[in-house]
Amino acid sequence: MNELLRRLLFLPRQASTLAAQIDGLHYAVISATLGGSLLVGLVAAFFLIRYRHRLDTPIPLAPHPEQGRVARGIEISGAGLLLALFIGFWVVGFRQFVQLESPPADALTIQVVAKQWMWSFAYPNGRGSKGVLYVPAARAIRLAMTSRDVIHSFFVPEFRVKKDVIPGRTTELWFEAREPGTYSVFCAEYCGEGHSTMRAQVVALSDAEYALALEGLPPFDLDIAGPVYREPALAGVAPREPLSLAQLGERVATAKGCMRCHTADGTPHIGPTWLGMYGSIVPLSDGQQVVADAAYLTDSMMDPRGRIHRGFLPVMPSYQGLLSAPETGALLEYLRALASGRAPGETGAGASPLAPPGSPPIRLPSTERALSADAGAFQETP
Ligand code: CUA
Repeated sequence: MNELLRRLLFLPRQASTLAAQIDGLHYAVISATLGGSLLVGLVAAFFLIRYRHRLDTPIPLAPHPEQGRVARGIEISGAGLLLALFIGFWVVGFRQFVQLESPPADALTIQVVAKQWMWSFAYPNGRGSKGVLYVPAARAIRLAMTSRDVIHSFFVPEFRVKKDVIPGRTTELWFEAREPGTYSVFCAEYCGEGHSTMRAQVVALSDAEYALALEGLPPFDLDIAGPVYREPALAGVAPREPLSLAQLGERVATAKGCMRCHTADGTPHIGPTWLGMYGSIVPLSDGQQVVADAAYLTDSMMDPRGRIHRGFLPVMPSYQGLLSAPETGALLEYLRALASGRAPGETGAGASPLAPPGSPPIRLPSTERALSADAGAFQETP
């Protein structure tokens, strides 16, 4: 039944763990509305013929009181049924929304930077890729996404996930690919001339293949931000040896002067300490609370007076335009490392230590194909 409806509606295969549920709701809404409009049309056609104007039909002056009661009963139950149906859609849809918005705690985080017109990805071990996102299959993946120019939208039809990617903010999206394979990524927000070519691929691999693929990637390039936002202070920062993304973030923090007001060892200074900050519950000066997730932390960098940590003065300047999107991603990864109790040099759970030591090299046919296809399709803008 699922397969039949999927083909009838021309939907791509259901390649993520949530895709089938989302399609289920889609089928229910489509069939209920199609069935409803069919019913209305048939009843209208029947009434049109049955009650058409005839010269000999006497026109009743008022309905019989009994008729009025029946009509009211039909009206109330019809309206009640429809209301229940739509509330039912909402209940199912809301639960799916909460699921889509709540990545599992053990999800593997990968930073995504969008720009006109390409996607680049930074992994916790400090490696980076452009146009191809490598993920382990059957594992929850959380993407922390930001843009260095205009609004884009990260869309993987086969996973049924889509989220806007906004300059100066970080948005999150998560998915779990059910099995290894190659899946298309589209930009789903018109972003200029090259919008339709702003595509990428998700390559889901087995754990061992993923570890191997990451080893083969070049270090993540902080300079991907290009000459526009390039800071002279960072010229000496970009390392030759591969650093972890968190280590890059640590260097960015120093170069950008973050550590003049923040500390990484738990002591409060002019600003709150970063130790244990990521993911914690932050009390705000207006009495409210907020979870310090990637979205809040990015907001705090770009619009620091918006939601202020209780007990601190609103003295932080905005870093809008001063921190490039890749630098923001690296900083977030540094904050995350500080909260999870691992040193910035460690790559974090599942980043690369998946292949057992001494395991034989594995050929990656799907990866090579994806890479060579990618090489032609994506070109850096000068
Ligand atoms: Cu990026 Cu459309």
